[in-house]
Amino acid sequence: HAADAHRTDLMTITRHVLNEQRRNPESRGDFTILLSHIVFGCKFVASAVNKAGLAKLIGLAGETNVQGEEQKKLDVLSNEVFVKALVSSGRTCVLVSEEDEEATFVDPALRGKYCVCFDPLDGSSNIDCGVSIGTIFGIYMIKDKDNVTLEDVLQPGTNMLAAGYCMYGSSCTLVLSTGSGVNGFTLDPSLGEFILTHPDIKIPKKGKIYSVNEGNAQNWDAAVAKFVEKCKYPKDGSPPKSLRYIGSMVADVHRTLLYGGVFLYPADKKSPNGKLRVLYEVFPMSFLMEQAGGQSFTGKERALDLVPTNIHDRSPVFLGSYDDVEEIKALYAELA
Ligand code: AHG
Ligand code: MN
Ligand code: MN
Ligand code: MN
Repeated sequence: HAADAHRTDLMTITRHVLNEQRRNPESRGDFTILLSHIVFGCKFVASAVNKAGLAKLIGLAGETNVQGEEQKKLDVLSNEVFVKALVSSGRTCVLVSEEDEEATFVDPALRGKYCVCFDPLDGSSNIDCGVSIGTIFGIYMIKDKDNVTLEDVLQPGTNMLAAGYCMYGSSCTLVLSTGSGVNGFTLDPSLGEFILTHPDIKIPKKGKIYSVNEGNAQNWDAAVAKFVEKCKYPKDGSPPKSLRYIGSMVADVHRTLLYGGVFLYPADKKSPNGKLRVLYEVFPMSFLMEQAGGQSFTGKERALDLVPTNIHDRSPVFLGSYDDVEEIKALYAELA
């Protein structure tokens, strides 16, 4: 029917969040305003990513970041866009970005009550070859608006109010949780709006996929080696699992969320705390996994229970289908 082609009941991300926020009577729309600025940043980056090859936006920016990584032009551009959007929202107080060595303390005149930790461009190694990349973010409430310190962003993941990611791939998909389930929105470029396409995402309890960089196998500990061995040569006669590894956390996590399975970035001898950063990679993705019925483990504890001591702390992470992560926890308990 013609009507279907132009559905008039489209649920945009802004309307969806307004509906969710209506549940907290004290909400003044601040979160919705913050989110609309994050959404703007994602739309800007989506547009830049789509033109990257044409707009000479690929390649190196000629700088290195605090991680010791060579910054790509898109890393730098995305970071500037998100910092400016978040500050101008007037709803943020402290910002932590993978691309900035120090936290950003917003000018008091523009301060709001939220802290945002973000990875403006995740999967930078995949920019130049056109493979999916993304943005990851996690949101805290400041502890005391009259005494803003770094402690406001060194909170355990269990204190995060909301988290999400935007994946710039064949379509632009924003996945968000504000603490009551996970919802996916797809950008309709003709409207410039994110439309609800994946309501109430739940991750399958068990999966048939494992996702890890096998190139690090010689550095794995016994528990990881044993788990991967079981994936490849199951003892119980079940078929081997498939290996899928894209190398952009956003893409690997998005597939895990929708299809099930487990994503691993273990510690290894080279990097004893693994590679992924707690505040803007491990916490937001762990938050989403738990909200979708999955779980996330560090090899020692529930990932969200970590309390970071520095804003760029790293942690090993095993996240995904509940039962698959249980198997890894059992192996760590057995082999500890
Ligand atoms: P970023 O591009 O933001 O620095 O993150 C890259 C991360 C993450 O996206 C991905 O899961 C991981 O690096 C891949 O690391 P390896 O190339 O070592 O497997
Ligand atoms: Mn990086
Ligand atoms: Mn990243
Ligand atoms: Mn990054």
